[in-house]
Amino acid sequence: MSDLSKIDNRLLNDIQKRIDSNSLRTLKTGNSLIDFCSNDYLGFAQDEELKEQIISEIKKLRRIGSTGSRLLTGNHSLTEKLEKNIALFHDAESALFFNSGYEANSGLISTITKRNNTILYDELSHASLREGIRLSNAESFSFKHNDLSDLENKLQKISEEKFIIIESAYSMDGDICPLKEIVELAEKYSANIILDEAHATGVIGKNGEGLAHKLNLHKRIFARVHTFGKAIGNNGAVILGSEILKNYLINFCRPFIYTTAPNLMQVIAVDLAYKKLENSEQHISRLHVLCDYFKNTISKYKHVRLLPSDSAIFSIIIPGNEEVKLAATYCQNAGYDVRPILSPTVASGSERLRVCMHTFNSENEIKRLCKLIESITEFIERDKANVL
Ligand SMILES: Cc1ncc(COP(=O)(O)O)c(C=O)c1O
Repeated sequence: MSDLSKIDNRLLNDIQKRIDSNSLRTLKTGNSLIDFCSNDYLGFAQDEELKEQIISEIKKLRRIGSTGSRLLTGNHSLTEKLEKNIALFHDAESALFFNSGYEANSGLISTITKRNNTILYDELSHASLREGIRLSNAESFSFKHNDLSDLENKLQKISEEKFIIIESAYSMDGDICPLKEIVELAEKYSANIILDEAHATGVIGKNGEGLAHKLNLHKRIFARVHTFGKAIGNNGAVILGSEILKNYLINFCRPFIYTTAPNLMQVIAVDLAYKKLENSEQHISRLHVLCDYFKNTISKYKHVRLLPSDSAIFSIIIPGNEEVKLAATYCQNAGYDVRPILSPTVASGSERLRVCMHTFNSENEIKRLCKLIESITEFIERDKANVL
């Protein structure tokens, strides 16, 4: 057997395992269904006025491409200005742009943690945070999701420099971390907090400044990561922290140093989206009104198991990959884009329909979606009972 067919066989074997467990991932292009699944919470990704502003500003540029890394030819006054504006918006000393939240999280953690350090991370931490932990030389332990006593137990046992890694709004459950209590624990045990604000950016706080800012805890947090791929309607991310942290990352963070700088179209688009955010208080309030409407409506249905959520993400537990896929297909066939989250992305038995709310969703659409979810969950329950 040639080496090529040997490796093909190994790859095919692993793919076959995914097929067997009903968890094969496939790429799909966009559709015309009603969007209850994208991260475009505020509709910025499709905002006509914003689009026009971006096009008009881009036309004024002499060059639009990056041309190199930030440390070579890719640094531009517009990028530096954007970082300053974003730092101001979130009330941080400094901001450093990354090409994605994944790179920001993995780069930050793997760069600043050292061999004798310990990382404590919430067990539901996003893959990008786990990637940073995996690449780090520090020791790491998870603590139970949002569980302060488990976190404190673990903090008590560590004497070296320590880091606590958490998210403002958890991407799969949609619940919020008990930030005030975690900040107090971090101060009691001299730990540094890294806070991923991906799903809080543009969603939590008067103008979407994030959870730490809303609770006035931001000055007590070592580093915050805000991403632009969700409510900002674009892609990329910033790490917020001290000037010392920024300088350190510019010098040692490999995903910052050895990559091409953001292109200027992206820089302009993110800058204009942030300007729009500054005047989005009412728009963000509307999002929360719709979230409450969804929670109130769906909680009246007795077959639906909704996880507690204070963000724009809602998870309805439907155990089993096959079952949750069936539920999603049912909603999709009725015109609603709701996606199943399968194991192993979430723990087996906690497979779920993930519903994301947007300012452009209507109350009628929400009402209809809730009914659809109730019908299909009831059907699945009945079907299971009949089989047993
Ligand atoms: C909590 C969280 N952090 C980080 C990321 C990664 O951000 P990006 O998509 O910009 O790489 C995501 C994206 O899915 C996320 O949900």
